[in-house]
Amino acid sequence: MSPPPAEPEHRFLRACRRLPVDRVPVWMMRQAGRYQPSYRAVREKVGFLELCHSPELIAQVTVSPIDEFGFDAAILFSDILIHLPAMGLDLSFEKGEKGKGDGGPKISNPVRTRSDVEALRVPDPARDLPYVGEGVRAIRRALAGRVPLIGFVGGPFTVASYAVEGGSQGFSRLKGMLYADPSAAHALFDKLTRAAVVQLQAQVEAGAEAVQIFESWLGELGREDLKEFSFPYLARIAEAVRPLGVPAIFFSTGTSTHLEALAGLGYPVLSIDWRIPMEEARARAPGLAFQGNLDSALLLAPKETLLARTRALLEAGTRAPGYIFNLGHGITPPTPPANVRAVVEAVHAFEPRGA
Ligand code: CP3
Repeated sequence: MSPPPAEPEHRFLRACRRLPVDRVPVWMMRQAGRYQPSYRAVREKVGFLELCHSPELIAQVTVSPIDEFGFDAAILFSDILIHLPAMGLDLSFEKGEKGKGDGGPKISNPVRTRSDVEALRVPDPARDLPYVGEGVRAIRRALAGRVPLIGFVGGPFTVASYAVEGGSQGFSRLKGMLYADPSAAHALFDKLTRAAVVQLQAQVEAGAEAVQIFESWLGELGREDLKEFSFPYLARIAEAVRPLGVPAIFFSTGTSTHLEALAGLGYPVLSIDWRIPMEEARARAPGLAFQGNLDSALLLAPKETLLARTRALLEAGTRAPGYIFNLGHGITPPTPPANVRAVVEAVHAFEPRGA
């Protein structure tokens, strides 16, 4: 029999395994992004996909929020749609027009029919996405063990929504496919699941020390459709990650009505959005670690409000071991960096009792 794995040292990995921590670990989704002047300076010189294709720049922007704010985990800088070109989809990111909102993903040949689904190729990460693995290795070198690195993929439903709609355009075409041609929809989710698994395996092999599944738009589906079109695929991803020996965090939004079902999918850590109190999440899914769930909008609030709500969340989150401070969704571009710094400082000043 092999000995049990050694207890991790880093507070983020310890919290994922519900082990006692010295301080509450904190990181924030989209911690590398447009709210940072340093990120905007990089983006003035290179396009978003160009940035995602350069291991050197990936390492630079991934590590910058660790240096600037002292977060307890880094997250690979990439995108949940990065593999779609290798699957056969023509992906671009539109440049946001000044004053007219942000750019977003565009796919010029979206998946609409069963034969479109059949034409999709499951990527080979080593051949098709070498810059991701190289990026992971470059980040690990740059971090030199300071904090763990989180890898990630998008969940099948969320990635399918972009692949089928052709961009951030709602969910009606994808839902249309679920009802009009369920077997084509299953074939699509199956391929996206296989694509997710091979990417996670490649990221962990390259050095990712935890992974997160971003199923951001899962709240669009009702219970019956979740059971048929989503949960079996999410359980398969969890099962494929287990032998890799790294913690898997499941993130979704608008899904609090299904928390008990999400808790049964096989992920040791659930990242919850701001819609329910952390105590309620814990009570409804005992035995898991939790991540979340400050409303990103609070980072735009007056400092006293932000800090009072941060403090209340810390009290609620640390009533049991296994708590990672994060937002309910990602940091938004107008966020003042000083507010991010204030939250990280407040989390690190807090004395965890239960945790
Ligand atoms: O710091 C991190 O969190 C890691 C990097 C990361 C990005 N995207 C960088 C990015 C991660 C984990 C993602 C995941 C992602 N990508 C999701 C799931 C998380 C979520 O926010 O719900 C989704 C839905 C996408 C798809 C995507 N990528 C959209 C819809 C957009 C345009 C909207 C936007 O926020 O700009 C992107 C672009 C994108 N991905 C940016 C960043 C920093 C902005 C691009 C830029 O620099 O102009």
